[in-house]
Amino acid sequence: MTSPWSKSSWRNHTALQMPDYPDHAALEAVEAKLATYPPLVFAGECRSLKSRLAEVSRGEAFLLQGGDCAESFAEFSGDSIRDTFRVLLQMAVVLTFAAKKPVVKVGRVAGQFAKPRSSSMETIDGVELPSYKGDIINDIDFTAKSRVPDPDRMLQGYTQSAASLNLLRAFAQGGFADLQRVASWNLGFAKGSPTADRYMRLAEQISASLEFVDACGVNPNNSAKMRGVDFYTSHEALLLQYEEALTRVDRSTGDTVAGSGHMIWIGDRTRQPDGAHVEFCRGVSNPLGFKCGPSLTEDDLMQLIDALNPEDEAGRITLICRFGAGNVAEHLPRLIRRVQREGRNVVWSCDPMHGNTIKADSGYKTRPFDKVLQEVREFFDIHEAEGAYAGGVHFEMTGKDVTECLGGMHGLASADLSSRYHTVCDPRLNASQALELAFLLAEELEKSVPESQAEAV
Ligand code: PEP
Ligand code: CO
Repeated sequence: MTSPWSKSSWRNHTALQMPDYPDHAALEAVEAKLATYPPLVFAGECRSLKSRLAEVSRGEAFLLQGGDCAESFAEFSGDSIRDTFRVLLQMAVVLTFAAKKPVVKVGRVAGQFAKPRSSSMETIDGVELPSYKGDIINDIDFTAKSRVPDPDRMLQGYTQSAASLNLLRAFAQGGFADLQRVASWNLGFAKGSPTADRYMRLAEQISASLEFVDACGVNPNNSAKMRGVDFYTSHEALLLQYEEALTRVDRSTGDTVAGSGHMIWIGDRTRQPDGAHVEFCRGVSNPLGFKCGPSLTEDDLMQLIDALNPEDEAGRITLICRFGAGNVAEHLPRLIRRVQREGRNVVWSCDPMHGNTIKADSGYKTRPFDKVLQEVREFFDIHEAEGAYAGGVHFEMTGKDVTECLGGMHGLASADLSSRYHTVCDPRLNASQALELAFLLAEELEKSVPESQAEAV
């Protein structure tokens, strides 16, 4: 028998990975202030994302989720939001064209600040300090003072999220996301590489299709669908004081909504079925995700699905799988079979980043592009073999030309990592690697397009 839910009932459960704020009065003052602020998203938008994800769960659409591992206060700028948004849209156009299905676009943005860490302490040159937990909690500088959790950071996280969302909403509906414009964006990243021809051919086909549609009289001036996009936000709901403070009741439906972002997810380290994060999430009506790593048992999976989606609502749950290349065959089939056997409604999505993190010779945390691609391919192959629908992907990526992941068509090498390694947490695909992955993913998606709809690409 589960006890009644309230937005603060998570406080009666074990909460892993959460900061221990030394100044309780300051924490309470921030929580009280945030509780009076407007929510960042509203209930109708969360409902519309849920119905888009319900389409994904039925195999009628595809989910593209991506953005920074951790947003940072220092790297905050309109340009970086624009660049990441642009790459996500380019990826979405490529995937839409290949899959012949709508792509649901969800950013890891406007709230992706709090980070779980594998170790609570960090040691440098014999000095041990608490780990950096994301800008909304403490500071990345390696000093004792910087690493103390500071509740005022929640206010800055809120402000940055509000400003990011404001710009994203303007981009999504204000002309920037016009389909003709997106397709004509420079694919210069592909130039000079052995695979460039294939990529340029696809881009030209997309442009030609748009010219045809334009000639038929449908263009951004007369079609809202071509003029703008629906773009949603998401983040890991790790910092529950922040999530609770932004939770609101929707007057029209009585639904309780996490106002911090459209979709929230639970990380691989905080998905204990009786833990605080599951407790908080079960009571809000937003679309939810949780990470499925190698340690997830079938029974835990079912307990989580039961707790978070007792009514088996379509679009409510996205299972974000992150097993690591070479490990997918060991874990994914057992989870898919159990979900199929129980007849539950989920979206299966692939996070090929978190199981493929290594330390390069140069000491940097990195991810080889080949392994990321391998995990995506394993994910698709296994879905095909199990008769399930591979519904989406979840990438850590940026629109900037950073040097954080190895490989890709420009052959980024270990020695290159130091040149523009900017992430404050995990390594991200740069713009060209992200687009390259979209093109390679397009090849997987094309395989599942029925003959009658397919056209040689
Ligand atoms: C993340 O998405 O940044 C993350 C920490 O993932 P996971 O919970 O899967 O380790
Ligand atoms: Co990460």
